[in-house]
Amino acid sequence: MDGVLPEFLPEKDGYNVAVVGATGAVGQTMMEILAERDFPVAEFAPVASSRSAGSHVEFRGRDYVVRDLESFDPAGWDIALFSAGGGTSREHAPRFAEAGCYVIDNSSAWRMDEEVCLVVPEVNPHALAMARANRIIANPNCSTIQMVVALKPLHDAVPIRRVVVSTYQAVSGAGGRAIEELAEQTRLLLSGRVDEVRAEVLPARIAFNVIPHIDVFMDDGYTREERKMMDETRKIMEADIAVTATTVRVPVFYGHSEAVNVTFEAPMSADRAREILAAAPGVCVVDDPASEDYPLASEAAGTDPVWVGRIRDDHSHPNSLHLWIVADNVRKGAALNAVQIAEILIGRTGSQAET
Ligand code: A2P
Repeated sequence: MDGVLPEFLPEKDGYNVAVVGATGAVGQTMMEILAERDFPVAEFAPVASSRSAGSHVEFRGRDYVVRDLESFDPAGWDIALFSAGGGTSREHAPRFAEAGCYVIDNSSAWRMDEEVCLVVPEVNPHALAMARANRIIANPNCSTIQMVVALKPLHDAVPIRRVVVSTYQAVSGAGGRAIEELAEQTRLLLSGRVDEVRAEVLPARIAFNVIPHIDVFMDDGYTREERKMMDETRKIMEADIAVTATTVRVPVFYGHSEAVNVTFEAPMSADRAREILAAAPGVCVVDDPASEDYPLASEAAGTDPVWVGRIRDDHSHPNSLHLWIVADNVRKGAALNAVQIAEILIGRTGSQAET
């Protein structure tokens, strides 16, 4: 954690915290992580749509009734962690911010807004200063977060010129219904009930398949997920790095994997990169080909760090390296990053993923 950040919220024993999207995959994990990290919560409010208002969720061993966002009054709330989709955030985040509540928003609604900061605590905590004015902070895309945590320390040593990334993204990135869709399709296919398989959440059958399509297609043939990785990386890294991406959904429940080719301004050996990454905040290096050790989504799931391995020189280019970067997309890629930002707002310094 570098630099001196202005005070955001006054010091107190507990803060009033709302989780908007509390019934969703990310919202649930936000609640778990607030509890795990012993975030000082005074009042707590789980908030969602009218569909689930009145249902119950548990937080820190207590039962809470889910409240309807439409009628929720944000006055008196310090922090709202939003993960309820872009449209919901566009409509409601300003209402919370105007009432004096800091909004940490996990949707893509505000990420590229010039007035809004896009923050990964290990990479650009200083950008948060901007949130003093408008109280809205954007949490980056899951695939972007894990990549920049690994790229930033390398870029600080030798500037990065170009990044070519291909992702292998878990279904949890598309929410709770996508998790159920993979489970249900797998069950049907293994029972020989092929005719009953339906793709309702993801764009094609995901069980026993690989789909090169995440979010919508744009005019230039890229998907919006790919565009997010390209634009957000440059905004967070505050550098004119050429980034190109191919984002792919794979039949994995939790944990995004990324094959990343990085070209530097000058040579950067695999050995040096390994050393830098071993000392980097929020990063764990697992890279031992001799014992066939490398990061796996199955092992990263449920953990906080960004795992990096398969670090090797790119023999086709003198200044290029290959990396394999894996993280739990719901934790570091979403909920944990948001809670780390909240920790900075309350003055907890050194907020980073436990490695
Ligand atoms: P709800 O349960 O009421 O639909 P996921 O990403 O796992 O699909 O979860 C999305 C989360 O966002 C859920 O908690 C969902 O609540 C919430 N949500 C979706 N649309 C709205 C909305 N219009 N207002 C409030 N919460 C919403």
